[in-house]
Amino acid sequence: MSIEITPLHPVFAGEVAGIDTAQKLTPAEVVAIEAAMDRYAVLVFRDQRLTDEQQLAFSQAFGELEFTNGTGISKPGEQRLHPAFADVSNLGQDNQVLARDNRRRLYSLGNMLWHSDSSFKPVPANYSILSGRVVATAGGETEFADMRAAYDALDDATKVEVEHLVCEHSLIYSREVMGFDDLTEAERATMRPVRQALVRTHPGSGRKSLYLGSHIGTIIGWPMPEARAFVRDLTEHATQRRLVYAHRWRPFDLVVWDNRALMHRVRRYDSTQVRDMRRTTVAGTALTAAQLVGA
Ligand code: OGA
Ligand code: MN
Repeated sequence: MSIEITPLHPVFAGEVAGIDTAQKLTPAEVVAIEAAMDRYAVLVFRDQRLTDEQQLAFSQAFGELEFTNGTGISKPGEQRLHPAFADVSNLGQDNQVLARDNRRRLYSLGNMLWHSDSSFKPVPANYSILSGRVVATAGGETEFADMRAAYDALDDATKVEVEHLVCEHSLIYSREVMGFDDLTEAERATMRPVRQALVRTHPGSGRKSLYLGSHIGTIIGWPMPEARAFVRDLTEHATQRRLVYAHRWRPFDLVVWDNRALMHRVRRYDSTQVRDMRRTTVAGTALTAAQLVGA
């Protein structure tokens, strides 16, 4: 068994040949993909015409999946897809494009901010696996920023300063940035801030990375405005163009990324056109920081 990888960017990201993700992976293929993920952090598999069941089976080869019902503003029974999917399409349960002022649509525009999936959960996600069933014809790229390279490129004094900092992450913060503040008390109660280390070490590659994202609201022990200004500076540094790969979608691309090593965001597209993107998410296995007791 061999997998071939063609780099898509000078720093990270690769395109994989020689794997049919619709078939059950052999243990050797799983190991080879994991090794490639440790190096590239985002892998693109072209022409993968998957059913939802096949996407679930492929994803489960890498660990337990996150269930996405009950996170954010999604409610059980109101979802278009199986509960192990994050529906990042612009479609409603009736498969029609959501109206411009649709609440779920406005909420999901938060994906246009740089983020790392599920950083608002105490144990955040490992891989995200996104299948492009119907892709945007203009715009709608998914951009990735290599947070390992961003860490490496910090000056020594900043590396010392960030080493032991811990941030608070919450969906409330990222939605506040968007001006989306009509959250119910029940929704807010599911979005209580969690703590994440600002520097994390990847168990596979051994590399350190900056753990940033739009869900950050403050740094523990810092005044909030000072924390937000610093996080903005770090984010600007981490998303300089040299460290960003922009994925231009072709139909049936399957893109796998490691949330422990990257941030990502979606770019603007014509939302009167169907964009049907379906994400499965491999759950993480470790905290990055101690949580507040009782939180
Ligand atoms: C995601 C996400 C980006 C996109 O699936 O986690 O942020 O391109 N989506 O839709
Ligand atoms: Mn995302």
